Amino acid sequence: MKLLTVLLAVSVALAASARAPRPLQAREGGLSDDWMQQQYKFALERIDLSMQQPGGAPGAVVAAPSKSNPDYWYFWVRDGSLTLDYIHHLLVSGNNPQFRRQQLEDFAAFSRHLQLTDNPSGPASGAGIGEPKFNLDGTAFTGGWGRPQDDGPAIRAFALTRYANTLLKEGKDVSYLYRAEMPPTTVIKADLEYVAHYWQETCFDIWEEVKGHHFYTRLVQRRALLEGADLARRLNDAAAADFYVQQANAIESYMDYYWDSNRKLLVTTLDRDGGLDYKNSQIDVQVVLAALHAAGSDDYLGPTSDRIQATAVQVINSFKNLYPINTQHPDLGTAIGRYPEDQYTGTGTGQGNAWVLATAAIAEVYYKSALRYRQQSKIPVTNNNLAFFQMAIRGQFSISAGEVINSKDTRFNNLLDAMVAEADRYMARIQFHTAADRNLHEQMDRYSGYMTGATHLTWSYVAYSTAYEARQAVVKAALQEKRRGFLSESAI
Ligand code: NOJ
Ligand code: NOJ
Repeated sequence: MKLLTVLLAVSVALAASARAPRPLQAREGGLSDDWMQQQYKFALERIDLSMQQPGGAPGAVVAAPSKSNPDYWYFWVRDGSLTLDYIHHLLVSGNNPQFRRQQLEDFAAFSRHLQLTDNPSGPASGAGIGEPKFNLDGTAFTGGWGRPQDDGPAIRAFALTRYANTLLKEGKDVSYLYRAEMPPTTVIKADLEYVAHYWQETCFDIWEEVKGHHFYTRLVQRRALLEGADLARRLNDAAAADFYVQQANAIESYMDYYWDSNRKLLVTTLDRDGGLDYKNSQIDVQVVLAALHAAGSDDYLGPTSDRIQATAVQVINSFKNLYPINTQHPDLGTAIGRYPEDQYTGTGTGQGNAWVLATAAIAEVYYKSALRYRQQSKIPVTNNNLAFFQMAIRGQFSISAGEVINSKDTRFNNLLDAMVAEADRYMARIQFHTAADRNLHEQMDRYSGYMTGATHLTWSYVAYSTAYEARQAVVKAALQEKRRGFLSESAI
């Protein structure tokens, strides 16, 4: 009886601390659960709307519903594929009735149509598959642009591969998505062939500015090839599967070159051979985005990679004193831009700003790595990631490089809690700069903090939502773990 009362009190207390009463007023700086939840709901609505643009072809995802200043009323293969990968996740994780399978079906058909469209990157079914953006009605965009961008077909390949796996699990036919036939007659096969044959070439980066070999592009290409190979094997295309794995391994053998051990930094681009030339620091949040977007079951260069974590620290430090909004509000997580030398204002050239999706990415890396450590019951502290942890610990206790903190160590929970609290500061940063209408633009002005650049950027909503879900997952796991811990202690 007494034990039961204690247990009850503890679980109530734990539940309460997970939903601790926090100020609802965003401007006060405290992170509000209510705000986050409402913002998530709103984000899902906007993501849904991104596929319902009047004049847009079925399956087309608008980057942002802004037709001028800036004109983002286009389908970008990258933004669209990241969005559909997330929609697929929402579908399989259940209870999201507003999302429909038809959206994936339409997206697959629209993508196939684009593959069959000649465009300035090259002919249909060939080099044209590297084209970064199309008109929303599915015709080619013929203006000048940084092209090709080879991350797009890779992200699209794994997004649709995952959908195909879902269909296979239900015993459904996927031959309209993948067939072994060569030259390719299906959307996934065409993307995989493109990735497998073009990855060694330089292309423009995800910011559409620098031509070279990019860490982000390589990492998503590797993921596309590995998941594509698994699908190919399931569909009796063994020779192709072997070829895709071989190419993925070849990519892997180059990934070490991105690591600068003196700077403790994964540089963003190697062998620049065109485009903008002023990113001298080589510090770029796209490396952190790569760890999130290309994440898979192998944990390869994912959120727990100490190289990724070291790079996150460099990214954070590069913006800490650069943007006045950071020095004005040091209590909030650092507002993060794309890279410190950025000159894109969101509408033209001048001074770059903080980005919602970049700031959310830092939160997500903290949440996701904390969850992974909890699952693995140990936290390896290295020379590379010590600073990443210390940023969260804020001097409350000490850890040192070389030790592995296991779950029996009192610092284990303390460190994971500190990481979640640190991530929360980045969410609080976004909350702080979001107006009452919940509109997530592309950027947050470096001086005023006001949202700026493309209005209702679809990618901002996706980035916010994946970070929010990562938070939900780690908070839940922590609660379960602590309950379990309490139960086993009280049993003694
Ligand atoms: C528009 C691109 O989308 C953006 O990423 C880039 O920074 C500017 N053009 C300037 O090149
Ligand atoms: C500019 C960004 O740099 C690029 O990554 C993105 O694809 C487009 N805007 C569209 O959102």
